[in-house]
Amino acid sequence: MLFTVSGDESELFPERLAGELEQGRIVFFPQSPVRLPSDADLAFLREKVGARLLAKNVSYYPAARRLTGIKADPAVAARTLEILESYSTRVVAFLRRLMPRFMASARPGTTSFRPMQEQGRNLSLHASNELVHVDAGAYGATHGDRILRFFTNVNPSEDRVWVTKGTFADLYQRHANAAGIGDKSPVRVQEKWMDRAYTALVRAASRWIPLARVIDSSPYDRAMRKFHNYMKDTPTFHRESAGQLEMRFPPFSSWMVLTDAVSHACRSGQYALVDTFLVPLANCQLRQYSPYEILRRSSAAIAPSHR
Ligand SMILES: [Fe+2]
Repeated sequence: MLFTVSGDESELFPERLAGELEQGRIVFFPQSPVRLPSDADLAFLREKVGARLLAKNVSYYPAARRLTGIKADPAVAARTLEILESYSTRVVAFLRRLMPRFMASARPGTTSFRPMQEQGRNLSLHASNELVHVDAGAYGATHGDRILRFFTNVNPSEDRVWVTKGTFADLYQRHANAAGIGDKSPVRVQEKWMDRAYTALVRAASRWIPLARVIDSSPYDRAMRKFHNYMKDTPTFHRESAGQLEMRFPPFSSWMVLTDAVSHACRSGQYALVDTFLVPLANCQLRQYSPYEILRRSSAAIAPSHR
C-alpha cells in the first residue's frame, strides 16, 4: 500500500509513480522532494495563521489568486497568500516534471494549510477526517476524474498519523451492497443527455458565479457520495479491522495519493500543507483500478438496462 521513494533515480523516471498511484499506492517521500517555505514562514503559518481561522483550513485558490478560511489584517493575509502561492507553484512544477502525461491538463484546485490538531476535533461525522473514507467530489462533481492530493507534514516534531482500510476496489467488493451501490441495487455511472445538459448549465452559470460549480452533479458523483457517507455513517464499518493499516508520516515528509481510490483517515497530527488536483480520467493508463471503471463494469455486467 505504501510505496517509498528512497531516492533511487530509477523510481523517478517519468510516469513511474503515476502507475503506483493508479494501483492504489500511497507514494511516500521520507524527505519532501519540494522545497518547503522557510523556517520563518512555517513558524508564521503555525503561529499567526492558526489563530485566525474561520474554517478548518486556510485555502489558496491559484486560479482566482484568492485566500479563504482566514480572518486577518491585510498584511497577514498577503504574507499567507504569498507563502502558499509560491509553495503551490513548486508542487505543480514537481508533479508536472515527475508525471508529465498523467498531469497533462490536470486542474490545480487548492493549496491548503491545515493548522488544527486532527485528534479529537469533534467535527460532524461527514466532516470528520478521523473516520476512514474515500473522497467523493472535489469543488463540485468530478464526473470520474481523479482526485490527487499531495501532502507535507510541516509539524517540526509530531508525526501525522493515517489509517487506511484498503483501496476502493477492495472496499467495493466487501461493502458495495451494504452501501446501496452493489449488484443488488446497481448504479448507472454513464451520463445521459439530461445529466450532460445539467452540467453544461452549471458550467455556463459558473462563468458568472464561480461557486455555482459546487452544485454540479453526475450519476458517478452521487454513487461515490453514497459510498463516502456509508463509510462515515456505519458503526460496523468503523469497527471492522480487515485490511486496516496505520501509517506515520514524520515531520517534513511528503506523500501523495489518489484519495478517491484509497481509503484514509487522519487520526492525529497538526500542521500540514495539502495540494489538490483533478486529474482527467483519460490520463489514466490503468483505468481498471479507477472507481469510475469499477462502478461502470459492475453495473454493465449486472443490469444492462441501467446503462
Ligand atoms: Fe479525505
